[in-house]
Formats: sequence, structure tokens, C-alpha cells
Amino acid sequence: MAAFLQTNIGLEIVPGRYSSLTDHKFRAPYRIRCAAASPGRKRYNITLLPGDGIGPEVISVAKNVLQKAGFLQGLEFHFQEMPFGGAALDLVGVPLPEETSTAAKQSDAILLGAIGGYKWDKNEKHLRPEMGLLNIRRDLNVFANLRPATVLPQLVDASTLKKEVAQGVDMMIVRELTGGIYFGEPRGITINENGEEVGFNTEIYAAHEIDRIARVAFETARKRRGKLCSVDKANVLDASILWRKRVTALASEYPDVELSHMYVDNAAMQLVRDPKQFDTIVTNNIFGDILSDEASMITGSIGMLPSASLGESGPGLFEPIHGSAPDIAGQDKANPLATILSAAMLLKYGLGEEKAAKMIEDAVVDALNKGFRTGDIYSPGNKLVGCKEMGEEVLKSVDSKVPV
Ligand code: IPM
Ligand code: MG
Repeated sequence: MAAFLQTNIGLEIVPGRYSSLTDHKFRAPYRIRCAAASPGRKRYNITLLPGDGIGPEVISVAKNVLQKAGFLQGLEFHFQEMPFGGAALDLVGVPLPEETSTAAKQSDAILLGAIGGYKWDKNEKHLRPEMGLLNIRRDLNVFANLRPATVLPQLVDASTLKKEVAQGVDMMIVRELTGGIYFGEPRGITINENGEEVGFNTEIYAAHEIDRIARVAFETARKRRGKLCSVDKANVLDASILWRKRVTALASEYPDVELSHMYVDNAAMQLVRDPKQFDTIVTNNIFGDILSDEASMITGSIGMLPSASLGESGPGLFEPIHGSAPDIAGQDKANPLATILSAAMLLKYGLGEEKAAKMIEDAVVDALNKGFRTGDIYSPGNKLVGCKEMGEEVLKSVDSKVPV
């Protein structure tokens, strides 16, 4: 099958269309396109944003898996790699170049690695890689961030929780992604009347922003086990009082979904006390950021968790929830599974290609069943592999799942 793939898809690497960017010593961006457009195949344009740290390593592995699963399901991808985050700062001085934003908007889906690193940590806020991430989320209007946290039986020992608490956990965190305190105005650092420096942000949600994320969450819960827990801080925050009111009002439209509410401090505690009680969680931007990191650890490693960011229309953005891990960057130690699983989410939620998505998910489970583990999920008795080798094992598993 591999040989067959090679003869039919000749990967051609051509300089990107932005000469000002490509002339630079930095290698990115390149457009990688399929030389031979195979008739009868559905074609999709995918923007790749490798970013920083381990981002390029995990994206390169996930791209191959995406391409192979797609090919086996009659799909053809046209990949365009664009600079983003710290890599873009080094290249053109901004974390989200105009060209990257335009390419992303024009594609069918975006697969992102990770951004950030020590090098840019002291930059002014608008020149930090993180601003690129916030801006691309805003530009694409991807307000709904789906972060699944599932404990795979193969990895239950990697969880920091006791086996009986961790096993069977299967939840979806629906995080609001383009509003709240992350984007609220006014914000800033100023001097108060006592001449003292003060920093401030605004947690703000309009009714329509709450309604649209709540609808995504109700729909998500409906397709899962029918339980939705809305997490807020309505005992203290006005924005949360409105949040709870709007979510409650929508519940009558989803009589098949059982809605509950929980304060965020309690939710943080319940997640480690009894995580199995959760099916679908819906929450605001900042609480979702924090709770999804917490939930990831239940599954064994943040290196396992993918995410999908979706809007009402336009392309979705798919990324692992882990960061750029500069401490292990370039050492072939990263766990590529979160990015590979993000590619599966891209197929499922971004393109509606469920069969190809399932192929990838099954292949990941298969590689784990065979005992392959990167360092973050390693336990004695398994085979320790690097990022590339894990990718190759997943590729082999995809290949072995070829439909007859
Ligand atoms: C995440 C990250 C980002 C966030 C950072 C890198 C801006 O932590 O995707 O969870 O806070 O949203
Ligand atoms: Mg986070």
C-alpha cells in the first residue's frame, strides 16, 4: 500500500506565494501540494500551522497520518504550511501574519501544532506568540472549543488518579473560545489615583454569545449520554449570573438533555473526586482553559488530548491542547497522538469525513494496544518510542485497516 501511495501522490514542495516571506532564511512557508490530482477524489485544502517548539514535529507526523487515512477513503489533501506564533515573529515580526490569516480563512480546515517558547516570553504582549493564537481564533470566529477527555483502558495506569477513579472517564468539555475575559474590554495596566499600578480585565458575555455556545453544548450532549453540566461562578460574578439564566432558558428546547449547574471551584474538585459523573461540560473561556488542563491529567497525559474549535460557518481550527514544550523540542520525544487525534477531529467535525476519522482513532488505539508509548505515557513493560516512531506505528495501523 505504501508503494501504491507513493506512485499516486507525488508530494511536490513549492515556494509559497509570499515572496517576502519565502526569501527569508527561515524555511517556512511552503505549499505542499499533490502533484497528481486524482480524478474522483474529494479534494480539501488544509492549512498547516506548525508553530513553535514541538509543534513542527507533531504536525509533520499528523500530516502523514491525515494524508494516508484520507487517501484510503478517497480524499485528497492540498496542504499549505504557513508561519505562525514565534516562528512568524522571527520571520516577519508578528505572530499572525496577514497572509497566514487569509490562507487559514480560505482553507477547508486548519491543523495547528503549538506556539510559544522561552525566546519570546519577555516580548511585549502584542508581540507574544499567544496573541497569534487568540487572534486567529477571533479572526475565524471559532467560538466553540470541543475538548474531549477520555481515559483509554490502555493508559489507565498513566493517570495520576487511582485506577478505579480514572477508568471509564469519557467527557467532553465545550469551552467558549472567543469571548469572556480573554477578549473583554476595558483591559490594561494603568496607574490608579494613589499612583499605584493596576492591571485589569473584563469578564463580559453578551446573551447571544452564551446562547450559541450553549446550543453547541446541548447538541453535543444529545449525541453523547444526554447529560450537560454548565460550569460558572454565578454566586459571585454577574457575567455568570447571565450565563446561568440563558443556559437554563434554553433547556426547554432540549428536553432529552439533563441539565445541571455547578460552580467552578466545586467542578475543579469534582473532576478529581469523581470525574465519571461528567458527560458534557459547558463553560466560559477562562474556566474552560483551566478545567480542560485538569481533565487532561486524568487521562494520563496532556499529550493525548486533541481539540476542535468551530464557528457557525467557515473552517474549523484543530489543535492539541498541549503547549509547545520547548524543553523537549527537537529531541523526537514529543507525543504526537494529541495532534493525530486532532487530525481525526478535523476529519469528523471539520469535513464530515467520519470514516477517515474513525480509521485514525482506531489506528491510535491499535498502536497503543501494541504497547508503543512515548515518554509521557510510558509504563514498564511497554515499548518506549519517539515522536517519529509513534507516527510510523500509527501509519502502519492505518494501513492495516484498509477497507476491502
Ligand atoms: C489553550 C492555551 C491558550 C489559551 C494559550 C496558549 C493562549 O492555554 O489553548 O488552552 O489560554 O487558550
Ligand atoms: Mg490552556
